[in-house]
Amino acid sequence: MRRIIGWQVLFFHNQPAKKPAKNSSVKSIGSTRLKRLFDFQFVDFLSAGMSTGQTTQLALHFSQPQRKTPFAQQISTFQEFGQPSRNLTTEVKTAGGEPRRIPTYVNEFWTAKQRAASRLQEISYRACFKPQLPRFFIERLTHPGDIVYDPFMGRGTTLVEAALLGRIPFGCDINPLSVFLTKPRLNPPALEQVASRLGEIDFADHDEWPEELLVFYHPETLKQIVALKKYLLRRTASGQLDSVDDWIRMVALNRLTGHSPGFFSVYTLPPNQAVSIQSQQKINLTRNQTPPERDVAKIILKKSRSLLSDLDAGLRLSLAKDHGRALFLTQPSSRTPQIPENSVSLVVTSPPFLDIVDYAGDNWLRCWFVGLDAKTVKLTVPGKLEKWQAAMTEVFRELHRVLKPGGHIAFEVGEVRGGKIKLEEAVLPCGIDAGLNPELILINDQEFTKTANCWGVDNNAKGTNTNRIVLFRG
Ligand SMILES: C[S@@+](CC[C@H](N)C(=O)[O-])C[C@H]1O[C@@H](n2cnc3c(N)ncnc32)[C@H](O)[C@@H]1O
Repeated sequence: MRRIIGWQVLFFHNQPAKKPAKNSSVKSIGSTRLKRLFDFQFVDFLSAGMSTGQTTQLALHFSQPQRKTPFAQQISTFQEFGQPSRNLTTEVKTAGGEPRRIPTYVNEFWTAKQRAASRLQEISYRACFKPQLPRFFIERLTHPGDIVYDPFMGRGTTLVEAALLGRIPFGCDINPLSVFLTKPRLNPPALEQVASRLGEIDFADHDEWPEELLVFYHPETLKQIVALKKYLLRRTASGQLDSVDDWIRMVALNRLTGHSPGFFSVYTLPPNQAVSIQSQQKINLTRNQTPPERDVAKIILKKSRSLLSDLDAGLRLSLAKDHGRALFLTQPSSRTPQIPENSVSLVVTSPPFLDIVDYAGDNWLRCWFVGLDAKTVKLTVPGKLEKWQAAMTEVFRELHRVLKPGGHIAFEVGEVRGGKIKLEEAVLPCGIDAGLNPELILINDQEFTKTANCWGVDNNAKGTNTNRIVLFRG
């Protein structure tokens, strides 16, 4: 019943295994180096002692999360978008040579077609995941009042979703901007408060004049930006900065640069990728553009209106309920003594990947606005797989410490190097090394319900959009 592809064994239920495409990642992952590190196989459930009949019998339809049904069973029988899950097994040999078999489920578990997530989440951040991802795990694996933690919180997708669902959000990120972006959205002001505060700020009161920024901004707009910066720094220094100021700073950070009139700047790259002065000069020349005048307060109010637009009284109550118990850390997530041991029910996270990220290059303007030196921020972005694994193992040890017995870690890894390296496979030995139990791998394939008949584990095909999540248990 097995079909061998390279050193992997692959089988799908109710359907013969397809030959991988020529440039398939199934083949490319079989490099000797990776094979030596963790000997992986996909095998079918038939070889694991299940019959096709049993599989069909298990394919029940749950339209709502079934809290009483074990999570793995919910996933294996998931069929909300019309297709049953593909149930595979990933076999892994740990560094010590011990074989482990990890159930692997593929389906469209959440989708862009679902009711859009809260507008409160609409903040740009490099490599952020969709709110549907943390929501999927939070709803099924935790109860209101539980602590949900993201050790690589980014823009705070997990924390915002946790708070909206009445869980206590904990987050850590080495990027100091992460707290600026996340915290204000867990304690959002009313739109009227934002409007009234914007009316109180003196947008003509500025001392600094960073002339080089005129490549992005009309002189009148730059005056307003510098005045707002001065106001926020003065309020911080005097201890007067409150949640409304905090909110205005978060929105302003997001509106600094972008590619539409909704931003303070002339046309440039999207807001999570600030360009250098020199690159912007080139963009201006090529597009024959000069920065138009923009009204900073008006743009902040407009974006605030949009972010707050679907926050009804019930959601505001959820956010406010445990607001005081939320925790935000700016430090490496491998050492977080502020988090008590055995306290966290669920971790939902996605780590820095193997790509080299130019932090200062991406964030210099945002850091300038909040008065930070971007060059002092050191992200964990090892370019080599072994170093990345060592860094992740350290983080897993710390997560194991803070996790409640029986708690879960949903660790999402994206596709890197065009799908040639599958980080979900690379991450398994790290978690096992740290003493965690790998429960399953969940692959969310947004094309799955459309292309179910030709789906393969190859992820190289253009247009596929997958999330790969390894679920560990403490
Ligand atoms: C893929 S992003 C996470 C995005 C997040 N899931 C979201 O939706 O916004 C990875 C994050 O890891 C952070 N990071 C990198 N090295 C870190 C470290 N050693 N400790 C904590 N955070 C780190 C980066 O600043 C970045 O925000």
